[in-house]
Amino acid sequence: MSDHQVKRVGVLGAGTMGGGIAQCAAQAGCEVVIRDVSESALSAGREAIESSLARLLKKDRITAEDREQTMSRISTTLEMGEAAEGMDLIVEAIPERMDLKVEAFSFLGANAPAHAILGTNTSSLSVTEIAAASGCADRVIGMHFFNPVPVMKLLELVRGMNTSDETMDRAKAFGDRIGKESVVVNDWPGFATSRLGIILGCEAIRMVEQGVAAPADIDRAMELGYRHPMGPLKLTDLVGLDVRLAIMEHLFRELGEQFRPPTLLRQMVRAGKLGRKSGEGFYQYGG
Ligand code: 3HC
Repeated sequence: MSDHQVKRVGVLGAGTMGGGIAQCAAQAGCEVVIRDVSESALSAGREAIESSLARLLKKDRITAEDREQTMSRISTTLEMGEAAEGMDLIVEAIPERMDLKVEAFSFLGANAPAHAILGTNTSSLSVTEIAAASGCADRVIGMHFFNPVPVMKLLELVRGMNTSDETMDRAKAFGDRIGKESVVVNDWPGFATSRLGIILGCEAIRMVEQGVAAPADIDRAMELGYRHPMGPLKLTDLVGLDVRLAIMEHLFRELGEQFRPPTLLRQMVRAGKLGRKSGEGFYQYGG
């Protein structure tokens, strides 16, 4: 089984993460099929990939031919079966809800080829629980990518309780091939990255709530004083306030009080202030 190089990749979810994962795999020469539940989600995903490639072309990081070839390797579908059958790797990047993940992995367990690696891009949910739904837990692994995927070097590989060494090795080989550097983490709520990243974001929001400083000053403090590329509130806007709230709710349940979501965050999500994608979060965007 170990000589199966990943050539065909299925991606479940055409959102920010799914699109970025699909783009990286296609740029590395894989044939990619992206599946989502609506035509509008699929076309928005394609547009995001096109604009990311346009950005790379403008910076001379790729040629016009690279861009054409990358796009020609990406197809889209509404059928989950078309993103599972014949694939060497399927990466799930659907919303952070265990019921949806369980449904997807039980489908993949029954429909993906027997050699395929089944990866989940979950930010914090239990890989072991997701794997259990598949009936082939040895082939299920956490493959946690970072936004913006084409730029961020890290691939956090999460070993579920039953993930095999062979699956770990093959997922790492795929990460190497698409230019990512992997770290291996055991399956524990929030893994390494979300557990640390969320606590910083959570505390920054509590500081806004308490009137310690304005969002821009909290961000500048971490950018200039700690050399973070962007402060924790700008980053929350980039990731999405709803996404961060869902992760906090989960970590609060699993790990306790330090992850209790700030009331301000709940209110902003209820008001539709989700960050960049909705035009407003801790900052205002666009027109
Ligand atoms: N596609 C392709 N290239 C992109 C891109 C995209 N979507 N977004 C940015 N870039 C490129 C730019 O073209 C630029 O390229 P260059 O180095 O050749 O000039 C480079 O990335 C830097 O972009 P900018 O000059 O526009 O802006 P910045 O220097 O401010 O960098 C940033 C932007 C890369 C987003 C940087 O601010 C950063 O690293 N921020 C932190 C991001 C982060 O922490 N992500 C993790 C979020 S948590 C997560 O994803 C986990 C999940 O589970 C929630």
